[in-house]
Amino acid sequence: MMRNMKKSGSIENQDVGATGGSGGIDNIPVQLLDALKDAGHVVVFTGAGVSAESGIPTFRDALTGLWSRFDAEALATPEAFLRDPELVWGWYEWRRMQVLRSLPNPAHIAIAELARQVPELTVVTQNVDDLHERAGSTAVMHLHGSLHSPRCFDCGRTHSLPPGPPNEPEGGRRLRPPLCAHCGGWVRPGIVWFGESLPEDVLAAAFAAARACDLLFAIGTSGLVQPAARIPFLAKQAGAKVVQVNPTATALDDDCTWSLRGAAGVLLPQVLKDLTQRK
Ligand code: APR
Repeated sequence: MMRNMKKSGSIENQDVGATGGSGGIDNIPVQLLDALKDAGHVVVFTGAGVSAESGIPTFRDALTGLWSRFDAEALATPEAFLRDPELVWGWYEWRRMQVLRSLPNPAHIAIAELARQVPELTVVTQNVDDLHERAGSTAVMHLHGSLHSPRCFDCGRTHSLPPGPPNEPEGGRRLRPPLCAHCGGWVRPGIVWFGESLPEDVLAAAFAAARACDLLFAIGTSGLVQPAARIPFLAKQAGAKVVQVNPTATALDDDCTWSLRGAAGVLLPQVLKDLTQRK
């Protein structure tokens, strides 16, 4: 277990490292458990890493198949869609298939269970999958939209897709987007692409929750994409404890109270189990 006490004599900025190959750590710090036990409002802020153990590649993993020569950020823009709608729609249908064929993992399930252990818990996610909801979390704030709510590129009206996962080939394929039943425009994924604004109401509610909470978990996010990346800092500035769960170093390392180094699907059930034992 590696400890990095950046402020001597303080419990702040503890780096609690993974041991062995289990993806877990020896012990969840008791100060963290006590802070969680005393917290009136907890925010759980998640990124792609929370869904990694469900088999969904993170955003910065290399793309495979038809998309291996692209980088995700080059496909996730309105310009890319307008330039080549079949390429971009095919990519999102392939991702939607992966998500619908996946199941929530122990991290999603522990987060939903944690909501029953604390007075108030708000889930704020950058993910466009629905794995938090399928694990039982409610009122999840989706900052970057959803794979499951396509709409017309031109008139903005929503579009219904057939239920169940689309049947896409393993390596993906180009696919013509459906046309809007109202105006005939291209249907686009309901994602907030690079260069687009986040839904104002959702962002404002997420910022407010971050400012109001006592403890914030930042789970499986590289903390590189603004404005979402501000959320843990808003919580910290307002005096909340910030707990990071991530196997690797991130932009948040120096600003969190505790960094739990390891897999979310291992560490969050461990936090939950230790919390219930300490209550
Ligand atoms: N448990 C916890 N964290 C993990 C795990 C795991 N099992 N596996 C990977 N991670 C971590 C990685 O170490 C990395 O820090 O998850 C993080 C994933 O980072 P990104 O792929 O950058 O995802 P995210 O932070 O969600 O990206 C933010 O960027 O491109 C946009 O819109 C996209 O919502 C996305 C946003």
